Amino acid sequence: MMALPLVELHLHIEGTLEPELIFELAARNNVTLPWASLDELRAQYEFSDLSSFLDLYYRNLDVVRERVDFADLTRAYLKRAAAGGVRHAEIFFDPQAHTSRGIPLATALGGVHDALANSAAEFGVSTKLIVTFLRDRPAAEALAILRQILAGDVADGVTIDGIGLDSAEVGYPPSLFTEVFELARANGLHVVAHAGEEGPPAYVWEALDLLKVERIDHGIRSLEDDALVERLVAERIPLTVCPLSNVRLRVIDTLADHPLLGMLERGLLVTVNSDDPAYFGGYVDENMAALTAEFDLDAAQLALLARNGIEASFLTAAEKAALAEEVDTWVQAQA
Ligand code: ADE
Ligand code: ZN
Repeated sequence: MMALPLVELHLHIEGTLEPELIFELAARNNVTLPWASLDELRAQYEFSDLSSFLDLYYRNLDVVRERVDFADLTRAYLKRAAAGGVRHAEIFFDPQAHTSRGIPLATALGGVHDALANSAAEFGVSTKLIVTFLRDRPAAEALAILRQILAGDVADGVTIDGIGLDSAEVGYPPSLFTEVFELARANGLHVVAHAGEEGPPAYVWEALDLLKVERIDHGIRSLEDDALVERLVAERIPLTVCPLSNVRLRVIDTLADHPLLGMLERGLLVTVNSDDPAYFGGYVDENMAALTAEFDLDAAQLALLARNGIEASFLTAAEKAALAEEVDTWVQAQA
């Protein structure tokens, strides 16, 4: 049976680094790991909040060093995504997670690009690349990296489609990055930002008003502010929601408590995504399966979520129409 065609809009490529690949890359690069076994590493995947996760996420990246490592990481994701029905992925990449530990931007970005360049042909997954800046590092550093990328002197032929904002949210409001986002927009890049994951609704307002983002990543704390919900609905601003991530980072207690269905009922343009699947127990198809099991979703609800992902993407109208037809075909096959 044909898989539901999915679009992934909130996926940190660094968050797809599976424990097995950590050990493989450690051996390849002669890195001594602090963990004696896969089980010992997996025992660390118990998080109390966003920052406890980010500590491990940044630390594990120590094994990813050469251009080929970045390409292998990205190829492994694309292969897994394709197997789960993903037809299009807009991928986040954190340059500062690598430059801050001495990896040249050209090595990291070049490796990711090498894999993305072959993705459509090799895996049947079209892609876009969104460079995400770490909000708990200086905006001046983000600006310097963005200028370097815009100047086209990072690595041969590497271009990006947009920028985003991620990492530790509370205490780092979007307003700090107004100039960075202005420069990105002036250069025709798409703009998105994490907001309202752990941070307050005020951060979502700032992301909209100051950064002028086209999508909000997470955004589930928007529900605390009725005027904000009204605005998101009226302007059809997509929220890229990540249910399994929300549970694992204790944004909500259990999947049964997830507000996804209520968000849909309020008319929000909600999409389902995986965030950091190697850490949170599931790729996007597994997020959909977990929701289906928890809330007994029917084919119409699954198709709505798939169509929301298509609408919220940065594909062209023609590309969106082609994917929407694939969803229609899937729906007919369910009847
Ligand atoms: N970087 C990787 N995953 C993230 C998340 N869920 N929130 C903020 N920054 C991140
Ligand atoms: Zn995220």
